[in-house]
Amino acid sequence: MSEHMPTQQFLESLIQEAGSITLKFFQKNFSIQEKSDNQGIVTDADIASENFIKKKIHEKFKTHTILAEESGLEKFTQENSEKEQAIWIIDPLDGTTNFSKGNPYYCISIAFGHIVEGVFQAKLAGIYQPTTQSLFIAEKNKGTFLNKQKLFLNDLQNFKLASIATGFSSNKDKDLIQVVNTIGAIQNKSLGLRINGAAALDLALTAKGIFQGFYEIPLAPWDMAAGALIVTEAGGVVSNFAGKEFCPLRDKGIIAANKQIHPELLSLIQNYYSN
Ligand code: IPD
Ligand code: CA
Ligand code: CA
Repeated sequence: MSEHMPTQQFLESLIQEAGSITLKFFQKNFSIQEKSDNQGIVTDADIASENFIKKKIHEKFKTHTILAEESGLEKFTQENSEKEQAIWIIDPLDGTTNFSKGNPYYCISIAFGHIVEGVFQAKLAGIYQPTTQSLFIAEKNKGTFLNKQKLFLNDLQNFKLASIATGFSSNKDKDLIQVVNTIGAIQNKSLGLRINGAAALDLALTAKGIFQGFYEIPLAPWDMAAGALIVTEAGGVVSNFAGKEFCPLRDKGIIAANKQIHPELLSLIQNYYSN
């Protein structure tokens, strides 16, 4: 298995080069296309970043399955879905709305792991914010690093002093009452709620301690897969909305926080999202 396991160095240069590709378009001219079903937009930068990442993975790891936002699943079929397999889960540009308006709050998110009995077991994850050159790398059982410095999640206990991030799903035309009620409850109980527009970056910044918690539903696997390992390896707790073990392929929502804040955040959310 080891020759099929990517190294941290491989992931670091892959994600940083993808970031440089997006910067060639950032705050410059690029074309924007609307996605179908009112699902937001895709830009030249999303496509160029995804094509680059997939090409590099194909060159080195020919047999690996790839799940990438703009092109979907490769090498993954109903017949082999039960089989253990190596898989990459990729968001080539998370925060496309921000990017398209020249807002630097966006990132690239890449997770690598194995599907075992239908569950994604993350091994290696990277999130990179090109505009600040912030590189988050996590490896299973080896910790999370921000620009090579080990991260330890802070241990703030008082929910009243916590800053909690969340996001609005790209799925439009939805009834937002449940979303707004949850936001209201958290805003009232915490120091303040933040909505920044890039779920993967919100997770990375939760690992850094900028936020003491992050939650959102619904999200896609590529929004959550890398960030979940990055938070866990920094010492945080990640669960689904039922408070159970999280899997980005199975779960539509994620709750991530430090150990002290997670129980209160989960119980507040469950007042509005009963499972
Ligand atoms: C979106 C961002 C946003 C979140 C949406 C996602 P995209 O991803 O992460 O913060 O609220 O649910 O779809 O489309 O910019 O990659
Ligand atoms: Ca995304
Ligand atoms: Ca994206």
